[in-house]
Amino acid sequence: MPQPHLRTVVVLAAGEGKRMKSTLPKVLHPLLGRTLLGHVLSAAAPLAADRTVVVVGHGADQVRAHLTDVAPDATPVLQAEQLGTGHAVRIALEAVPDGAGTVVVINGDVPLLRPETVGALVTAHEQAGAAATVLAAEVPDPTGLGRIVRDADGRLEQIVEERDADATQRAIAEINAGIYAFDAVRLRDALGKLSTDNDQGEEYLTDVFGLLRSAGEPVAVHVADDHVETLGCNDRVELATLRRLLRDRVNEAWMRTGVSLLDPATTWIDVTVALDRDAVVDQNTQLRGSTVVGAGALIGPDVTLVDTIVGPAASVVRSHAVGAEVGAGASVGPYAYLRPAARLADKAKVGTFVEVKNSEIGAGSKVPHLTYVGDATIGEQSNIGAASVFVNYDGVNKHRTVIGSHARTGADNMFVAPVEVGDGAYTAAGSVIVDDVPAGAMGVARARQRNIEGWVVKRRAGTAAAQAAERAGAVQGAPNGAGAASDSEAMHGPGETVGGPTGAGDTATE
Ligand code: UD1
Ligand code: MG
Repeated sequence: MPQPHLRTVVVLAAGEGKRMKSTLPKVLHPLLGRTLLGHVLSAAAPLAADRTVVVVGHGADQVRAHLTDVAPDATPVLQAEQLGTGHAVRIALEAVPDGAGTVVVINGDVPLLRPETVGALVTAHEQAGAAATVLAAEVPDPTGLGRIVRDADGRLEQIVEERDADATQRAIAEINAGIYAFDAVRLRDALGKLSTDNDQGEEYLTDVFGLLRSAGEPVAVHVADDHVETLGCNDRVELATLRRLLRDRVNEAWMRTGVSLLDPATTWIDVTVALDRDAVVDQNTQLRGSTVVGAGALIGPDVTLVDTIVGPAASVVRSHAVGAEVGAGASVGPYAYLRPAARLADKAKVGTFVEVKNSEIGAGSKVPHLTYVGDATIGEQSNIGAASVFVNYDGVNKHRTVIGSHARTGADNMFVAPVEVGDGAYTAAGSVIVDDVPAGAMGVARARQRNIEGWVVKRRAGTAAAQAAERAGAVQGAPNGAGAASDSEAMHGPGETVGGPTGAGDTATE
């Protein structure tokens, strides 16, 4: 039995990416849910390499920090000066113990590379027992790329960088994708022989192929099925192109699994998102991060979901959610904002111009209109009246509001936390609730209304309002001012109508 093959992956990520014109290192630019580097690492992940080395240089600290997040097993190796791709691989291999096996080298800026393609390259390389195999592709525009130069028999002779190429070589449309498999021993040997005798004065990894070939070693070309996978990213225009291409790939894959995308051109789904069968995504929708959409859910139009879980058959329309959970059959929007730890249980509703943060909204409960719910727990089957504010912040600390089940709170309420409204309790419209409302009670916390008869006719005489009032038979002989209401009016206590029909009617906004 042959020994299992030791595999080492080396990702080259030390370059600055000058043409990105960015303070962020090129490989850290995001692309539908991962950085460029993150895409490359995940394409290499199924190789189950025994070790992964990432060559860092420009923005090394940022790249190292990112690796801790996305690939904690990878070893960053510093290339303090970027003296070329060959130099980078040499430094990478100095950092890992000697050994036989395969070394897979991947440029850090080819994010559309699929795991299947790297896998096929490595398998072809290992089966052929080649010293080095390069992934190549025929591209419509080879400008700026290394060309695959073949001999009369079609075998790889060398890889020539465009700036070092003659006119005949420049006319070659087959390019080096920047992804390779090497035999470890022969690679180390060839790396020691690289020269810097080229237009950039750098050690080119690509020269390894010519060196090995001249030494009579078998070198091979593995042609990619789809050249799109080999596209690199050098500036933000290319990044935008890659984003569109990846969007199309992701969208097509979801449609093939039974998800409806009504307008794929305006639907942007991160590679990290999951959707279940019969979910429908309407136009102009972005699904990001760890978002999960359940079966038959309806998302969009005009929705952004970040790290949000949407249950089966729920609907989210024209809304923005970050770190939220939407239960099965729940409904959100139009125009809702769900912030982190907003949790809607099954069949709950968050309606229009409603913001929810760090709150549980129980099964079947509704917050239909114009409301802020912060740091609250709402039980089941309750209704929160329109235009209410859960006043959670005293300027120093946040406090919780608890609303029970089957409660009906009035329109335009302030719940000044910490405060509780019990099961089955009501509150009157316009109330500022500062004290707990016991289960089944009606909480009223507002001044009583008083009418100053004839005020307009007397104080606004001659206006259209006064004339209309007179036509309507308004009472004459008004008192002298706003303060002159009759004592009997002012004496009605706020609690007088509690339990009466007017109290209950106050709360209705469903
Ligand atoms: C390289 C190839 C070229 C190929 C192209 C594919 C060489 C000499 N040329 O060219 O044949 O067609 O990729 O995209 O390899 N890097 C380092 N350290 C360095 C230099 C580069 O880590 O000293 C990293 C970069 O961050 C990048 C990758 O290596 O991720 C490739 O470097 P880049 O400068 O983009 O090479 P190209 O000129 O594109
Ligand atoms: Mg490049």
